[in-house]
Amino acid sequence: MLRKLTVGSLLLLGTLFAGPGAGAQEQKVDAEGHAWWQHAVFYEIYPRSFADGNNDGIGDLNGIASKLDYLKDLGIDAIWITPCFPSPQVDFGYDVSDYEAIDPMYGTLKDFDHLVSEAKRRNIRIILDFVVNHTSDKHKWFIDSESSKTSGHRDWYIWRDGKGPNQPPNNWQSTFGLSAWKFDPKTNQYYYHYFYPEQPDLNWRNPAVERAMLDQTRFWYKRGVAGFRLDAVDTLFEDPNLTDNPMLPGTDKYGRPKTEEKYNKKLPEVHDVMKKLRSTANEYGAVLIGETWTKNVSELKDYYGGKNDELQMPMDLMMTDFKQLSADQFRKHIAAVDASGGWPTYVITNHDIVRSYTRYADGVHNDDIAEMMAALYLTLRGTAIMYYGEEIGMENNDPKSKEEVQDPIGKLGWPLEKGRDGERTPMQWNEGKNAGFSKAKPWLPVPASAKTHNVANEMKDEHSILSFYRQLLMMRHTEPALLEGNFQLLNEDDPNVLTYVRRYKNEAILVMLNMSATDQKVRLNLAPLGFSMPKLTVLLTNFHKPLSGGGGELPMEPYSAFLAKITQ
Ligand code: NOJ
Repeated sequence: MLRKLTVGSLLLLGTLFAGPGAGAQEQKVDAEGHAWWQHAVFYEIYPRSFADGNNDGIGDLNGIASKLDYLKDLGIDAIWITPCFPSPQVDFGYDVSDYEAIDPMYGTLKDFDHLVSEAKRRNIRIILDFVVNHTSDKHKWFIDSESSKTSGHRDWYIWRDGKGPNQPPNNWQSTFGLSAWKFDPKTNQYYYHYFYPEQPDLNWRNPAVERAMLDQTRFWYKRGVAGFRLDAVDTLFEDPNLTDNPMLPGTDKYGRPKTEEKYNKKLPEVHDVMKKLRSTANEYGAVLIGETWTKNVSELKDYYGGKNDELQMPMDLMMTDFKQLSADQFRKHIAAVDASGGWPTYVITNHDIVRSYTRYADGVHNDDIAEMMAALYLTLRGTAIMYYGEEIGMENNDPKSKEEVQDPIGKLGWPLEKGRDGERTPMQWNEGKNAGFSKAKPWLPVPASAKTHNVANEMKDEHSILSFYRQLLMMRHTEPALLEGNFQLLNEDDPNVLTYVRRYKNEAILVMLNMSATDQKVRLNLAPLGFSMPKLTVLLTNFHKPLSGGGGELPMEPYSAFLAKITQ
């Protein structure tokens, strides 16, 4: 059975498809002036769930350090660690109570320094998560802020009088359910929180807040951090007049009337802060990745800054909203992002979103689909951010009852909102107890799929998702067309197969992705790209049957990926 070909084992299809009518500071790392992060593959680690070094059921920094060889071998250049700072863990770390330390459950600053230096030895960079919009209500700034109306930090957060007795200042809603205002009986005012009440929003209109926050980033840059993923940047500013948001028809998953977040999201002032964070990052040659929930390509483009002076890597999270596999939808979106002028940063899943494996699974071709999606986002022009476990085909393991839920939004919104536990389960290292993640009971349950989908087993299986990823990542690092090439669509009317060429000077790579459940035959015409007598040399496929073809047509199995070098 021919399933995957190793990079070395090239199969010449010869003229099968040929014939007339057929088918800042930053150091630059290449002739195109690209920086390291443009050649890098990033890997998101949810530290609670990656590897448990001290066997208490929760992952930690030493656990991550113990897996650096695995990451290096996989082909990872940078890891983004979601918040590991001291935190009451209401939002599992996104409620930071001290920006300049490590939560004891994850280790110490010494462990962090060790991780940085071990990673550096392997040429892996560390990216931390910077929670810019809010702190924990247990942060010393907020503790002082809530202590009295005249406290030094009062204006570091957003305090307002209610509209009247028992009436919040306006109709703004928290994205995590209920009102966005919490009443404080001591000072008889409300404070604003876009997320949980335990996550009060910082007042970025206060220059002291800005100064303090920029300084927090310096603290980590000096410790060797290569950049930040900036959390929730869309919500940094609110209308100072507190104008009510317009009402929309219908109710949301928490049963509240829907509103349009017109006055508390994506205000233009956000861009001023992005510029300041960027100029601070430039002092250290660091990279900024943004959690940018944009509605369209134009909004995404704005986050690069008019003079490329904001985020180097605003995440394109729009594909995470594509519920079905549709060649046409992916094609149009990717073409628009690619043409917009910025360096794309593609994300297909993360710790807040149902895993892409589960999102697109059809129950029959699940692993093929996972590989086809990998071939998509790892062969596009731009930088890709993987999510831990994607490379082994980890699936969601959602709570079965409300009692099992850990994520507070799942408790509040059950059953329409199950929370995000399902996509945050322990990394599946082997088929043994607790998937080899910990000797103790893990904080979230391991799914049954750990028996088949785990690193140890997949490492031994040349047909596994992991083997497919490893080959793909190797190509991504070595093929000039994938590193530097432009992006050219072919067969734009094909409703099933997404086909494109990545081209750099004399190098060209063809990528074909069958996004349908049925066999497809694709006719290629490469003449418009200057290949009148093209030869295709297969680099990688996930076909189950031996390659065949003829008459200028390439047969594509359901949900298959086909990568080939094009030469004349
Ligand atoms: C986005 C993070 O990814 C998510 O996990 C968190 O709950 C919110 N921001 C609030 O910080």
